[in-house]
Amino acid sequence: MTDNFQFTLDKTDAGARLGQISMPRGEIRTPAFMPVGTVGTVKAMYLDQVHETGADIILGNTYHLMLRPTAERVARLGGLHKLIRWEHPILTDSGGFQVMSLSGLRKLDEQGVTFKSHVDGSLHHMSPERSIEIQGLLGSDIQMQLDECVALPAEPKEIERAMEMSLRWAERCRVAFGEQPGKAMFGIVQGGDIPALRIRSAEALSQLDLKGYAIGGLAVGEPQDVMLQMLETTLPVLPTEKPRYLMGVGTPDDILKSVARGIDMFDCVMPTRSGRHGLAFTRRGKVNIRNARHAEDMRPLDDQSNCPASRDYSRAYLHHLVRSNEALGGMLLSWNNLAYYQELMQGIRKAIAESRFADFMAETQEEWARGDL
Ligand code: GUN
Repeated sequence: MTDNFQFTLDKTDAGARLGQISMPRGEIRTPAFMPVGTVGTVKAMYLDQVHETGADIILGNTYHLMLRPTAERVARLGGLHKLIRWEHPILTDSGGFQVMSLSGLRKLDEQGVTFKSHVDGSLHHMSPERSIEIQGLLGSDIQMQLDECVALPAEPKEIERAMEMSLRWAERCRVAFGEQPGKAMFGIVQGGDIPALRIRSAEALSQLDLKGYAIGGLAVGEPQDVMLQMLETTLPVLPTEKPRYLMGVGTPDDILKSVARGIDMFDCVMPTRSGRHGLAFTRRGKVNIRNARHAEDMRPLDDQSNCPASRDYSRAYLHHLVRSNEALGGMLLSWNNLAYYQELMQGIRKAIAESRFADFMAETQEEWARGDL
């Protein structure tokens, strides 16, 4: 069967990879940053704006959407794309990670996870098969296997047990997903901070011949150098011709260093969540707009930016909005931050294309270090 889900690797430069994923709903230029749209909204953003910043794909969450408005209701309403008015690709996370971080009382065993909803306290069960069924009802283009992610630090035995169970769940998800041309189900490498377990996980998942591979269980409390070490251990074991997605990462610096090790896709709530809390990401590093030094500063965050939020609104106004808890403050800073993240990804892709990724990385880090304008 021909598959109209295709990953093409165009070029590598200093460890970084340039490529694209083509699928019926559109193309994803990689390395890609995927804004997080947990409950069917990239918080405080219009999806037209999200697309205009340069995002080719957004993320949705099985856990949140199954509880409200429920997967069956989304399906009756014509699917997530139609409901939220986003015609481009959507990746959905499987739910395991959010169950662990958000739900109350939970019980996890070989069959799946039983948990209490954080919305209304009701009891729910999710098996690997049910997670794939929900992601199908939502109409997700890239679906993730159900996995168990343990917070670090953790006991090696516990990390190993969760990793091995995640492998068995990957197999069950693969069977449940079946053959779906134009769509993909990605496996998730686990194994905590233990190289041998990471290698075992990556090797076993590679045998399943999935359409893409995620690295999970990182940025969960370990230092950055441990995370990077795990990437260096894991990535050589994965097939080069498949996309690699680092889940839940990260800061602009994490992204740059992970691209340098061969990661193709990222997602993180950081640009939107920090934006709602008054933190701006710019070419010249982080800016806390709540700081009193901005109160009478009529300069924009960055007059060189193409994003209206970054270029046309004064720091004084942004400071006032955020201090007054006005919704517009969070909206403008989320917009600025997503635009900066996409500008970074665009810069990364251009640099790889021009075989100057190492220089681009050094220059970008120098600019951050120089500090705010
Ligand atoms: N998001 C961030 N990390 C993880 C992970 O390990 N698993 C899943 N499913 N989602 C994540």
